Amino acid sequence: MKRFICVLVLIIIIFQIMSLNENFANSINKLEWESIKTLPINKNNIDTSEPLYCFENYCLYFKDNVYSLFDKSTFLTHSKYNADTKECDFVYLKTILQLYPKNIKNVCIFGFGIGGLPLALSKNSNIERIDCVEIDVRMFELFKTINPNPPEKIHYYLNDVNDFIKESESKYDMIVDDTYGAEKVIVDYKLVKQMLNPNGILFINLIKHELAINLVEKLKKIFSNVSLQPVNYNWLITCNY
Ligand SMILES: C[S@@+](CC[C@H](N)C(=O)[O-])C[C@H]1O[C@@H](n2cnc3c(N)ncnc32)[C@H](O)[C@@H]1O
Repeated sequence: MKRFICVLVLIIIIFQIMSLNENFANSINKLEWESIKTLPINKNNIDTSEPLYCFENYCLYFKDNVYSLFDKSTFLTHSKYNADTKECDFVYLKTILQLYPKNIKNVCIFGFGIGGLPLALSKNSNIERIDCVEIDVRMFELFKTINPNPPEKIHYYLNDVNDFIKESESKYDMIVDDTYGAEKVIVDYKLVKQMLNPNGILFINLIKHELAINLVEKLKKIFSNVSLQPVNYNWLITCNY
């Protein structure tokens, strides 16, 4: 009887470990476009100073055909998106669009926001795949509300970016870390480098100068070439593999 109980406990433990592994393997949460809902935005507030929709920390406005996400606590605009040109209308994003090597194929964007950067990148016919990681599903919902038919090469991952980095087995020619906040979000940039193809490029967008300077020193130990430039109110770090 004792032996039977021991074997039973062993079997239970083995099953528990197997299901734990399965959970880890499935922690990358890819959303199909059809499964993403839309947001009930207030269409009466178009071209007024009232928001179309408010999230926890920021509100969405639409004026002169430009959508903008405004941060309620810092009074800073997070990103802008032009409904006519379907491009992001914000200085650091435009700088990335000018600087990035145009012959790349696979891109990963950390921090989807209003989705202006992925849409602008999707116009480059060399780019075959744009994986976007976002922690807040409402960002994808907002995107679907204002862009009902985006290009199929944009893919949507609802994950904390640090979990995604740990689990991802994909390789990219370019990664843009646009999780943009007062504090740095990415825990381990060595893991980010492992997601890049050799010759790949990483852009990091930050708002605090001190944070950017400290991070540059750490990144110099990981990447072959690291540079920092001011872009309007932001700091843009460029890292080459
Ligand atoms: C500046 S916005 C990104 C702008 C965007 N690239 C564009 O083109 O409009 C920053 C986004 O990062 C997301 N974010 C913040 N922390 C995150 C995390 N830990 N994992 C994934 N996304 C995160 C926020 O929810 C927000 O949507």
